[in-house]
Amino acid sequence: MSTLRLGIIGGGLMGREMASAVSRWCALEDVGVGCEITAVCDLAPTARDWFRRLPSLRVSTADHRELLASTEVDAVYVAVPHQLHEKIYLDVLEAGKDLLAEKPFGIDLAAARNIATRAKELGRFVRCSSEFPFLPGAQRVFQFAREGKLGRPLEVRSAFLHSSDLDPSKPVNWKRQNATCGKIGVMGDLGMHVMHLPLRLGWKPKRVYAQLQKVYTQRPDGKGGTAPADTWDNAMLHTDVSVLGDQIPMRLEMKRLSPGDTNSWIFEVFGTDGGARYSTKDPKALWLFRRGKEQSWERIDLGFSMPFKTVTGGIFEPGFPDILQQMLASFAAERAGTLGTRFGCVTPDEAVGAHEVFAAALQSDREGRAVSLAET
Ligand SMILES: NC(=O)c1ccc[n+]([C@@H]2O[C@H](COP(=O)([O-])OP(=O)(O)OC[C@H]3O[C@@H](n4cnc5c(N)ncnc54)[C@H](O)[C@@H]3O)[C@@H](O)[C@H]2O)c1
Repeated sequence: MSTLRLGIIGGGLMGREMASAVSRWCALEDVGVGCEITAVCDLAPTARDWFRRLPSLRVSTADHRELLASTEVDAVYVAVPHQLHEKIYLDVLEAGKDLLAEKPFGIDLAAARNIATRAKELGRFVRCSSEFPFLPGAQRVFQFAREGKLGRPLEVRSAFLHSSDLDPSKPVNWKRQNATCGKIGVMGDLGMHVMHLPLRLGWKPKRVYAQLQKVYTQRPDGKGGTAPADTWDNAMLHTDVSVLGDQIPMRLEMKRLSPGDTNSWIFEVFGTDGGARYSTKDPKALWLFRRGKEQSWERIDLGFSMPFKTVTGGIFEPGFPDILQQMLASFAAERAGTLGTRFGCVTPDEAVGAHEVFAAALQSDREGRAVSLAET
């Protein structure tokens, strides 16, 4: 079995989460490829220090070019602030390495297009992060939608909702400022998670009407003063999408100010004869709608039926670390040619497609009208 030697650039929240997913690789039964972390790069010495606990680590550096020069690295997971995506992703590709990018895949549409084009030119294997569709409930709604058991399609809702920003005393960070998060704001933060399944189902919006909200525009700077927090906090995108030949509404919701939602990922598909919905708020429950003589919503208690088999018992509950590992397993398997019919990570074309929707949303907000995707 071959082993994917992964380097990590950006050893913050997500860099460490990814390293821990790799450390539990032995839980995976049928990926067909091994994985180890061989190199880390972070500007902060404390971040690099954390990675010393990995026995496979051979390179630790503050300069990502040093990591990219290493012959011990086949592919790189990059988890850095958004204004650095384009430069570092292009450096990865030019160095001849494959790339597991973080969302939003560049700070804006132009950056995303540039990265996708260069990846194609250089023939590198590139995918982008979005882990929630690997949940068993998400997979079941996806399969339901693909099987077309809806009758006449009625509507789709895809949402990702946070609430920690309701607290005005929460200090500002790079994700709350346009210069480092991007003008798309919350859409850059949460949008890829909302777009992955619709785009994989071929449901790319044709027209977007956006309602964008900024609520707290100043926040504590963590040093006793205040600093601007100029990103969009909430984005409601009302879109038209073609499903089974019918044009129907699809609502895309991305919110940092959603009362009571710590990290709620939701996907719902409704038709005249059938429907399916799943939310991480009730993580074991798959809800299926059936219209017979009587109408019913049936609740199915899900277990641990992941796309990649693991040693974990079938009745146990999956969580965030599990789906991140599943996503990386999918990246490694697809790169090695062993993915088969299992679910794949976001492709560069899908990442660009998501950015096209976000760019249309910004234009819609500026001009106060619905914007056709053909205009972006
Ligand atoms: N998939 C998900 O669920 C998920 C969740 C959170 C964040 N993210 C994404 O992951 C990425 C990183 O977010 P995070 O929350 O881990 O951020 P973070 O701030 O916790 O970590 C970023 C790290 O990058 C380092 N860094 C900055 N500049 C660097 C450089 N030039 N070279 C090397 N290291 C550098 C910082 O020192 C920091 O340790 C973003 O793209 C974000 O959108 C994804």
